[in-house]
Amino acid sequence: MNKTFSIYVHIPFCQSKCIYCDFASFVVPEDKVKKYFDALCQEIERCEFSGKAKTVYFGGGTPSCVDAENIERVLLKLKEKFDFDEACEISIECNPASADKSKLERYRKMGINRISFGVQSLNDNQLAFLGRRHKSVDALESIALAKEVGFENISADLLLGLPKSSASEICEFCGRLIESGVTHISAYMLQVEEGTPLAKMVGQGKAILPSDDMTADIYEKVTNKLDENNFERYEISNFAKKGFECKHNLAYWQGKDYLGFGLGAVGCENGVRKMNGKTFDDYYDGKAYQEKLTLQEQIEEIIMLGLRTKYGFEIEKLKALGYNISKNDNYKKFLSQGIIKEKDGFVAINKNYFGVSNEIIVKLFP
Ligand SMILES: C[S@@+](CC[C@H](N)C(=O)[O-])C[C@H]1O[C@@H](n2cnc3c(N)ncnc32)[C@H](O)[C@@H]1O
Ligand code: SF4
Repeated sequence: MNKTFSIYVHIPFCQSKCIYCDFASFVVPEDKVKKYFDALCQEIERCEFSGKAKTVYFGGGTPSCVDAENIERVLLKLKEKFDFDEACEISIECNPASADKSKLERYRKMGINRISFGVQSLNDNQLAFLGRRHKSVDALESIALAKEVGFENISADLLLGLPKSSASEICEFCGRLIESGVTHISAYMLQVEEGTPLAKMVGQGKAILPSDDMTADIYEKVTNKLDENNFERYEISNFAKKGFECKHNLAYWQGKDYLGFGLGAVGCENGVRKMNGKTFDDYYDGKAYQEKLTLQEQIEEIIMLGLRTKYGFEIEKLKALGYNISKNDNYKKFLSQGIIKEKDGFVAINKNYFGVSNEIIVKLFP
């Protein structure tokens, strides 16, 4: 039987850097872009994995900031190399500042069927503070254009916990996004990454972020607002209408095999994790790092990733690695207290406890 797997493709370019972001993305001149796509196609060509692709995800950086022909070239190379499942979910991350109608049309024509916009906020002052190149109206217009060219599966990323923001303001953004017709919302709490301009501002007291209690309150209000509108929280930071959960991310969280192509991209196959070089030079030189996860790491990863989602993890998967979790005292206690629940061989966190999942997860490790 043909093994199924997922594919991540990293596009490490941005038009400018946002103050909070430490993703592997660079602002480079146009003429550097072709060399990267040549290398990317060669990397795919060299890959010896065989199987059926269930999901493909073009992430970044900003895939929409390069000409759509580059994306199409990679997609064709992937299709030449691998079998694609008929219902393959093919996603692309787009910045509203660079996703114009002709690009969106071209994505649709080449077979991309899911689009994810970095909206972040619908408050123009906040967008300017974050260093975004678009205004709220551009984000809403991008979503409308995506619908117009035929996308039905549209996601928006929102950042929670911005300075001078409030839970009620974010709930209002959620309402406007729902009205715009998105089918999925990722709501990430703003992380202060070392070395970013945001970290410096926070260090100098020029940007004040919400406390842990406020953070929990924001998540609770956002979850209620989205729930009222039939957007279910299927993962700690992800909400979707029924049938619009992101299959690609679910494959990660369920510990399925995935390949990663491109600068800094990570793949994982049979417990072996591979990461490509994180600079252009290292990537072009074919530098990659591999590590075989220990048994303990594999077990922790299954629990940690599985419990992020409403589906949880499979008990048998842990048994196959020699861990009978049913004998863990904390496990028994959490079950009896209704903090976790078992169903059809899977264990999941009761959704009321998503906010404290980290504390629960570590107590379930062997
Ligand atoms: C690759 S970007 C999305 C596409 C495009 N680059 C953009 O920003 O519009 C992925 C998402 O990661 C999230 N992100 C990046 N840095 C973050 C941080 N420091 N804290 C929380 N979320 C972050 C943002 O919501 C962003 O939309
Ligand atoms: S958030 Fe997106 S657009 Fe901004 S720097 Fe990061 S990857 Fe680029």
